[in-house]
Amino acid sequence: MAYSHQCSPLAIVRMQIDRKAFLDSLGGSDAVSKMDAEARADAVEHHMLSDLNKAIQAKHAPASNQARVNPTAAEVEALIETRPYRAGAGFLIVSRTGENVKRLQPMPANPTLVDFFNLRFMDTANHVLQSANLAMKNGMSEEIILACLLHDLVQEIMRTDHGWWGAQLFEPYVSEKVTFAIRYHQALRYYADPSVGYEYPDLYRQLFGIDYVPPPYIEQTYQMVRKHKWYMEPRMVAVNDLYAFDPDIAVAIDPFIDIIGRHFKQPKEGLGFDGSPVAHMWRTIICPDQPL
Ligand SMILES: [Fe+2]
Ligand SMILES: [Fe+2]
Repeated sequence: MAYSHQCSPLAIVRMQIDRKAFLDSLGGSDAVSKMDAEARADAVEHHMLSDLNKAIQAKHAPASNQARVNPTAAEVEALIETRPYRAGAGFLIVSRTGENVKRLQPMPANPTLVDFFNLRFMDTANHVLQSANLAMKNGMSEEIILACLLHDLVQEIMRTDHGWWGAQLFEPYVSEKVTFAIRYHQALRYYADPSVGYEYPDLYRQLFGIDYVPPPYIEQTYQMVRKHKWYMEPRMVAVNDLYAFDPDIAVAIDPFIDIIGRHFKQPKEGLGFDGSPVAHMWRTIICPDQPL
């Protein structure tokens, strides 16, 4: 398999972050210094996801809609005792804007993965579509492209340990290899692999000025995965994840419909209603307003 790596660090620099505003949003540099590496990296990713969504909305929305783009500060996380929610809460569960959440559109009775893209994955779809698009351009296998397409979607309901949560959400419907790629992309982000041009993200250093030491379980997971015969599956998700924050690209799901058809076992009853061990997770995405 060819792992061509055509991305340039310039691509990520295009999505510049206002360092001061970002640190302030997290409670200042002292507060940030108390966060662990995973929390910091997730805060960066969330900030970039939010900026990407706004940039794409601003670029592609009709002029009449542009005034409705949400302000930046509202989508940024604060620290534990300075905010009324936990950082691990999913984008669909807790508004980062400070504004009230919106009523969700009804879903079809037998919802498909594509229905979820259209009606529920509002905060994560742009990023994963760009990631899958990059993987396709880089000549990745269909399983890696699918893993890229799915890798961060569970952050709609849960962000903590999203690699593991995400793998669980999709496990009944995709191959073991795709599940492996989704589960372990989270841990591999912290570890360079020059053989495929993956470096520890400069952006993390620029933002925090220190080298992160990931928690022991992340280090242990990395050590296990790097020796595994499927190591390159999550590694290629990380490679095609890192640069998938380009505000100049709006990727539709259409190019991936065939790959979904070949590799995603869509239950005929609909996701959430097939009696699978994860059906409740899909129902939670369908109706996160249900109190019990
Ligand atoms: Fe991720
Ligand atoms: Fe990602």
